[in-house]
Amino acid sequence: MADDPKVHELRRRKAEARLGGGPERIEAQRKRGKGTARERLDILLDPGSFVETDLFVVHRTTDFDMEKKKIPGDGVVTGYGTIDGRLVFVFSQDFSVFGGSLGEMFANKIVKIMDMAMKVGAPIIGLNDSGGARIQEGVRSLGGYAEIFYRNVVASGVIPQISVILGPCAGGAVYSPAITDFVIMAKGTSYMFITGPEVIKAVTGEEVSFEELGGATAHAEKSGVAHFAAENEREALRLVRRILSYIPSNNTDDPPHLELRDDSERKDADLATIVPPESDKPYDMRDVITRVMDRGSFLEVHEAWARNIVVGFARLDGHPVGLVGNQPAFLAGTLDINSSIKGARFVRFCDAFNLPLVTFVDVPGFLPGKEQEHGGIIRSGAKLLYAFAEATVPKLTVITRKAYGGAYDVMSSKHIRGDVNVAWPSAELAVMGPEGAVNIVFKKDIEAASNPKKREADLVREYKGKFANPYIAAELGYLDDVIEPPETRPTLIKALNALRTKRDSRPARKHGNLPL
Ligand code: HXC
Repeated sequence: MADDPKVHELRRRKAEARLGGGPERIEAQRKRGKGTARERLDILLDPGSFVETDLFVVHRTTDFDMEKKKIPGDGVVTGYGTIDGRLVFVFSQDFSVFGGSLGEMFANKIVKIMDMAMKVGAPIIGLNDSGGARIQEGVRSLGGYAEIFYRNVVASGVIPQISVILGPCAGGAVYSPAITDFVIMAKGTSYMFITGPEVIKAVTGEEVSFEELGGATAHAEKSGVAHFAAENEREALRLVRRILSYIPSNNTDDPPHLELRDDSERKDADLATIVPPESDKPYDMRDVITRVMDRGSFLEVHEAWARNIVVGFARLDGHPVGLVGNQPAFLAGTLDINSSIKGARFVRFCDAFNLPLVTFVDVPGFLPGKEQEHGGIIRSGAKLLYAFAEATVPKLTVITRKAYGGAYDVMSSKHIRGDVNVAWPSAELAVMGPEGAVNIVFKKDIEAASNPKKREADLVREYKGKFANPYIAAELGYLDDVIEPPETRPTLIKALNALRTKRDSRPARKHGNLPL
């Protein structure tokens, strides 16, 4: 068989196709600190698991002498393989072929594997490194993009979609990653923007570098477009593997359970002293999270953006959960526009993919200010409220300290259908903080006092004793229990086990009208 000339021909064709744009362009890619499309798939997938599709596909453009430039595969490597033994569908754009630019057939290849991923209910992972719409193919390129965007939307909430940005991703091309569930960018080699530095300079006169405008750090810290900024390509690809370890292959599956590597009854004594006795002192909510969750299981999402809320994945007794926590160490844990959006998007992801939600609450309220009000904090705060209320997955809430005002309601309270709501003895549930409250209710009383400062201090003390505690809410059944902080882990694990078979639904409708 090996001597069969037809087999020789097949092998020659395949070997040629696998070289993409050829050794020179591959070398240029390496010089930029980037791997090839195929090397990236080798890192991403389990060894030997990749099955390629459409290796022989070429474009059919004749304009600009393109009929003389046909490269098998047409600039994108597509197919399927496994990650930790689980099936995933992948595409990897090849910058060495026409700058990874997307034409009709290139798009068809991606569309084909997206359709397969939807049919079998497996995640789709896109590795992006492209000069955008292939100029020579004109509107057919735009049509190709739109076919992908449409599928991104239809697949949203059905199969997980992850985008890894490993080179340019510009213009309308950014909208496919933007619709997907997670965007991972590699520092130094990737950028995303709608209009690049040259256009910005021409239109506004503003000068900005590629990196400053749309690099990984800019999108991870400032815009929130990137959920993760990895140090390099390898780390970006390893992150995909880590994310998938928490999530099911589709919306009808359960998240993957890992054998327990931690004691489900573990009571961490440090939790007893984590919340400072002074209610205006900060502490890091991540110190609470890591002590309660299975050891080493916490993966923070959107770590650098809207840091006044913490979101991420972890495991409890080997079962993946989605975490949301106010962060007293940043902006005192207030909710503002960005933190509300960050929280809402994460809650909706978890709800779509059957991940129970664990919410840690220490929130003094919404961030005051003209900028926030005019920027639409009303609309954005409502998104978080909407997301928690809409979620039907098991919802567990732990109030560690403050739960004031509207933010109390928003943060997965009993009233918007928290399943198990507990508080620590340090919890303060009230309409507002003691100082603000006494200055409204007892304004005249304080003004009339012979020593207003002392009168105010006395009233604050009285208010704290009466209202700023968990017991009134517990008496009303708004809290199921008040627990000692070290009991948090066993309490949550038992609650999660009890809720494993939770069934809940909302009335049938075309879709809700999330306040966008
Ligand atoms: C066709 C393209 C291309 C494109 C790059 N190439 N982009 N070919 N269509 N969009 C080709 C180049 O001609 C070159 O081919 C090879 O890819 C490598 O490109 P270089 O420019 O040499 O590489 P580099 O210096 O690294 O610059 C990379 C780049 C630049 C910054 C991405 O190529 C660039 O600005 N490209 C155009 C980007 C762009 O404006 N795209 C359209 C965006 S709008 P040769 O044969 O010379 O080596 C868009 C709309 C999407 O995408 C709409 C969706 C709805």
